[in-house]
Amino acid sequence: MAENFDVKLDKKTYIPDPSYQANSALGDYKKAYAEFLSDPDGFWAKKARELDWIKPWDKIRDWEWPQARWFCGGKLNVSANCLDRHVKNGRRNKLALIWKGERGKEEIYTYRQLYRAVMRFANALKNLGVKKGDCVCLYMPLVPEHVIAMLACTRIGAVHSIVFAGFGAEALHTRIRDADAKVVITADVGIRRGKFIPLRSIVDEAVKNAPSVEKIVVLSRERCPVELYSEMEVDFYAIQEGVSEECPPEEMDSEDPLFILYTSGTTGQPKGIVHTTGGYLVGTHYTSKYIFDLKENDVHWCTADTGWITGHSYIVYGPLSVGATVVITETTLDYPDPGVWWKIIEEFGVTIFYTAPTAIRMFMRVGEEWPNKYNLSSLRIIGSVGEPLNPEAFEWYYRVIGKNQCPILDTWWQTETGIHMITTPLGQPMKPGFAGVPIPGVVADVVDKEGKPVPAGQGGLLVIKEPWPSMMRTVHKNKERYLQYWNQINHWYTVGDLAVRDEDGYIMVLGRSDDIIIVAGHNLGTAEVESALVAHEAIAEAAVIGVPDDMKGQAVKAFVVLCQGYEPSQKLISELIYHVRMTIGPIAMPSGIEFMDKLPKTRSGKIMRRVLKAKEMGVDPGDISTLEE
Ligand code: WTA
Repeated sequence: MAENFDVKLDKKTYIPDPSYQANSALGDYKKAYAEFLSDPDGFWAKKARELDWIKPWDKIRDWEWPQARWFCGGKLNVSANCLDRHVKNGRRNKLALIWKGERGKEEIYTYRQLYRAVMRFANALKNLGVKKGDCVCLYMPLVPEHVIAMLACTRIGAVHSIVFAGFGAEALHTRIRDADAKVVITADVGIRRGKFIPLRSIVDEAVKNAPSVEKIVVLSRERCPVELYSEMEVDFYAIQEGVSEECPPEEMDSEDPLFILYTSGTTGQPKGIVHTTGGYLVGTHYTSKYIFDLKENDVHWCTADTGWITGHSYIVYGPLSVGATVVITETTLDYPDPGVWWKIIEEFGVTIFYTAPTAIRMFMRVGEEWPNKYNLSSLRIIGSVGEPLNPEAFEWYYRVIGKNQCPILDTWWQTETGIHMITTPLGQPMKPGFAGVPIPGVVADVVDKEGKPVPAGQGGLLVIKEPWPSMMRTVHKNKERYLQYWNQINHWYTVGDLAVRDEDGYIMVLGRSDDIIIVAGHNLGTAEVESALVAHEAIAEAAVIGVPDDMKGQAVKAFVVLCQGYEPSQKLISELIYHVRMTIGPIAMPSGIEFMDKLPKTRSGKIMRRVLKAKEMGVDPGDISTLEE
């Protein structure tokens, strides 16, 4: 049960410079939201009209719980919206991609170059027998060819399923099987912290007993001819030799699937989240233009990997659909030193920077001397996604990276939502710890399990009450699982996160509802206790779990990573317990604290509390294919 717990809300706010709102595409948030509420379909139709449609839609939405269709009857092509229209409309020589590799290598693509490269590769895919509706699995490092392959799939109507290139053979195999991928695209190696990762051999292993796979396309990182080991393998560049550079975009129905993306969730089998063409593109275009406020001269850098939804929506489809300049990198945040990212911002004049709290906390830990070595004055907006941005991390990010002037967009969303849903739109006062408010287009609420809105300051379940264009359409081969999102409370979309609202309607996301610990009948969000721990000067990162307790049902057990210069000691443990007691209250006091060198995390940076819990209880942790190391 996730209701009736009180949360102590900090009242601190930061007021952004009024010029942000004055110059923003969205304008006044309250006005924009009221406009949406007065005519939701009209609102989305207006946004959709900013894209190029081959044939306009007959009906804006068709909502028959739990199935939504958007822009029914409309025809469009995603790659044509990301490329052709910019090439035709004056952006042909504008930089689309700036790529930076770990070993200092750089490459750039103008919109026209990208357009041509995509058409060539799209034709090569067609020659391999890939047809509209076929699934193509991408298991690639973050190099320009990765983006080219994504866009080439969308050009011919193939459905891509991107698997993060840090996953092992077993995880890749499961995903290839589930999606029935016909072609797998990979590279000879990925590069991480100076080491080569043999992607191609992992694919070889993963395609065993995957009968759907007909071809494996291998990219040579150095663009030299690939030595082929089997009938199945082909060379990424060799298959493009002599092919036509003309590849008209496939006419796709608005509801044709665009991609499948597997998300691990907290337990068990990965879920293949399915997104469709029209609604997804309208959502990513809208949020890139009106929420991230991407403008003609912006240089946008999202540090996510394309293996995650953040990379799909805010490296590729959103920014390219608005014609932005996008930075992509294969760099690890602290290799060869913790200054690499800040150097990239200085070098390319990045104006919009989007990263994750786990990265911000890592940088806090190594010290502000690293960012301070570089000129970050090009930045105008900084963003965060993936987990709650705790107030200490917010303040550090705001002060050290944003130099007390860049608004922070702490964006709450999910693989399933396709786009960010809750944030603090430019110009609105920012409250550390709070993601913010529902963006225009989104109807969100915090309710108890009967669906009754909970009063300000009281925790509840986050729900989305109305369908939106970029919502997932199904879980691949698992309609039942899809239904579970919609049949829990009043036929609303139940997010699975706990949240609390303040009297201004700002929403703080506390963590997954399954990350709740109940101590003596009181519900505690793991994120809340963790936030308290990391607020202590000695603590860089923290994870807490519930452990059985004879007296209280459950007790809090904490795992912490220390900041540089601190040593584990009994004295520190007592100090931390006292600190949590003073911050949240006696109920949250950890019964035990363990010092760790690092926390078990998914490759996208989420702490896997489940692994800690299994270790603590001496049981099998279940599927750990998403674990980083
Ligand atoms: C969490 C990532 C708090 C949340 C885009 C959600 C967040 C899950 C935030 C989805 C945020 C994401 N504040 N929590 N700004 N952003 N989350 O599918 O628990 O990888 O349900 O999508 O991450 O993770 P996913």
